[in-house]
Amino acid sequence: MQNKFGKLFAALTASVILATPVFAAGKTYQVATDASYAPFESMNDKKEVVGFDVDVLKAVAAKGGFDVKFINTPWEGIFATLSTGDRDIVSSAVTITDERKQSMDFSEPYFEAKQMIAVSGSSKVTRFTDLKNLKVAVQTGTTGDEVVQKLQGKTSPNIKRFESTPLAIQELLSGGVDAVVADNGVVINYVANNKGAKLKVVDDSSFAKEYYGYAVKKGNKDLLTKINAGIKAIKADGTYDKIYKKYFGNK
Ligand code: ARG
Repeated sequence: MQNKFGKLFAALTASVILATPVFAAGKTYQVATDASYAPFESMNDKKEVVGFDVDVLKAVAAKGGFDVKFINTPWEGIFATLSTGDRDIVSSAVTITDERKQSMDFSEPYFEAKQMIAVSGSSKVTRFTDLKNLKVAVQTGTTGDEVVQKLQGKTSPNIKRFESTPLAIQELLSGGVDAVVADNGVVINYVANNKGAKLKVVDDSSFAKEYYGYAVKKGNKDLLTKINAGIKAIKADGTYDKIYKKYFGNK
């Protein structure tokens, strides 16, 4: 009896060992995200990171054969977490820029965006150049920060920098600045969901198109290949469109 049991146990153990590679989930990658950027990434009541970027990257990971763990990470220094190895991917509505490409690698683009202006409902601002001599709040080191620097000059005292976009918007609400410049999706989302704030959106056709990508450590080809395969697959089978529709309606 004991012998039989022992044999059975050995057989089970062997089959588990043999089966493990087949059933093992892919590697889990640590994902940095500044979760104060709804609808792309924000924290819900249960302290989970949720949003468009989360849904898209989870779907990408499922197709690419890997797992992801989102970790709320301050925007300032977010890219440095790749070189230190603390994080494997930055998924944070990150615009692919030539400057950033020097120090990190990007996936294929997964979203098109542009800058947009938020002002108080009574503001006379109608276009970007109207902000030339006005006080503007931006999130430090974002493409919003860059475009305002181009308009006002790098050292302009009228650019007020904040560590998050909600803080920049807070400054507009308290009257400390005349405008906020940030990504269109975030500006539109805030204005629409905070009607009491009496803000309005100002669009300007001079803003260039931007494309979001996932950033990885320079040279991490293996991960980039898996991410790009996943992006391709979710675009091909309709998963991407489904997620897009959930957050932004029809294209
Ligand atoms: N797309 C802009 C950039 O790459 C802003 C991104 C900010 N993202 C965030 N989660 N705070 O500079």
